[in-house]
Amino acid sequence: MSVERPLVTALEAYSRRGKARWHTPGHKGGRGMQALGWDWDLTEVADLTPKTSREDPVHRSEQLMAETFGAQRTWYSVQGATLPVMAAVLAACRPGSRVLVDRHAHRSVLSGIIIAGASPVWVYPRLGPGGYPLPVDDEDRAEMIRRNDPQAVIVTNPTYDGLSARLAATSRLCQERRIPLIVDEAHGTHFYGNPGFPLSALDQGADLVCHGAHKTEAVLTQTGLLHQNSRLVSAQQIQQAWEMLATSSPSYLLMASLDGLQALRHTPDYRAQWVRFGREMQEIWHDLETAGIFVLQSWWQRSGGLADPAKLTLVGNGERILSELRPFGEPEKADPFGVTLVLTPADDLGVLRQALRAVGGASGQSAPMAMWPQAVPVWPPSEAVRRPREWVPWREAAGRVAAGPVTLYPPGVPVIVSGERIDAAMVSWLESTRDWCRQRTGDLQGFEPAPEGTLWKEGEEGLWVTTEFEGR
Ligand SMILES: Cc1ncc(COP(=O)(O)O)c(C=O)c1O
Repeated sequence: MSVERPLVTALEAYSRRGKARWHTPGHKGGRGMQALGWDWDLTEVADLTPKTSREDPVHRSEQLMAETFGAQRTWYSVQGATLPVMAAVLAACRPGSRVLVDRHAHRSVLSGIIIAGASPVWVYPRLGPGGYPLPVDDEDRAEMIRRNDPQAVIVTNPTYDGLSARLAATSRLCQERRIPLIVDEAHGTHFYGNPGFPLSALDQGADLVCHGAHKTEAVLTQTGLLHQNSRLVSAQQIQQAWEMLATSSPSYLLMASLDGLQALRHTPDYRAQWVRFGREMQEIWHDLETAGIFVLQSWWQRSGGLADPAKLTLVGNGERILSELRPFGEPEKADPFGVTLVLTPADDLGVLRQALRAVGGASGQSAPMAMWPQAVPVWPPSEAVRRPREWVPWREAAGRVAAGPVTLYPPGVPVIVSGERIDAAMVSWLESTRDWCRQRTGDLQGFEPAPEGTLWKEGEEGLWVTTEFEGR
């Protein structure tokens, strides 16, 4: 009898193809990463986890990491950036409090808000070329703070595509009002201290900063960091939130790869390789534009924004660009409007250049995705997710209140949030964009086939909505 190992087989096949990995994790097949031993796959045991934090190697490694980020304290996550984001929100936001949040926030922000029981006031981003979200303008957000008087502010900076904005006005206002500023900098672990990269929120007065270290650094998948950058939210509050959400069996193997990163960050080589890489990527942007290819990051930089050289988004006919790139490597994401690559110093930029020559002038044009309509909240998300619910075909959803979110993946941004009223404009947005959203690497999570055992037609798709009245 043959025994199936479908995941192992798929991984072996992927590795055998030997294509460039223009996606996370940042080590690109192990390059530049701390060597790890299988017999280090351990969790807390007495020898490794002494009672006093002074002797605890994890605590010591976290301190060393904090030093390299100029942070007061750093926590190691083995649950990606999701745990740092949720713990930061839970530690900083009280039940019922008004929280100003960028609407292109990752779903982990929404989860944190639900767990904390806070009420979001959304700041909608503008969409740029190809329909990719732009960072919220600092002055616009500051105006929203003045108008809404929130008790905390949650910022997503940079965007999934590495577009970043300055946070001076936001952070000044938060400091004046003594309200916590949480920045989800999941895609910008490599920003701090590296010239040629966007300014890190750690340098701009944020109180809590969340990093998805695995996205761009030479560390194992699922590693992340939470930095405490002021005393506005106490270490004790953060620790308590952390313990509520984190696994009680953290992987010492994953944390050992973070230890390798902190050691690397203490060497001059670390900065030098990022700076060299950043310069080379700027040259690549320039060459692409000369060849008539639209580079989202370069456009943003020319528009006065800060852009991450570790992201490369070719805007145009996503299908055509993807088919030219695929023989050479796998991108991070691809949709009808363009293709985004995640690149790090571990990438072979020679291969990248070769692949980009194949794209040539073939980028073509494609209509950008339209902004999803702004919705009216009926209940806070923490209330809506606990309400009785039913599934309805999406064409019949107008006027109903969403029970679960509908999330565009990637970038993991909810276009409908639990508790919002779905109106005719949203139904018509779904009508025109749902198929686009799901092409290639895309998905619309929460937009689902009818549940089994119901009388709905097979193949019908729809959403979960609240029944509004208990017991209906
Ligand atoms: C902006 C942002 N924040 C948080 C996360 C969650 O990160 P992770 O997948 O490491 O948990 C993501 C994931 O893509 C993200 O894009």
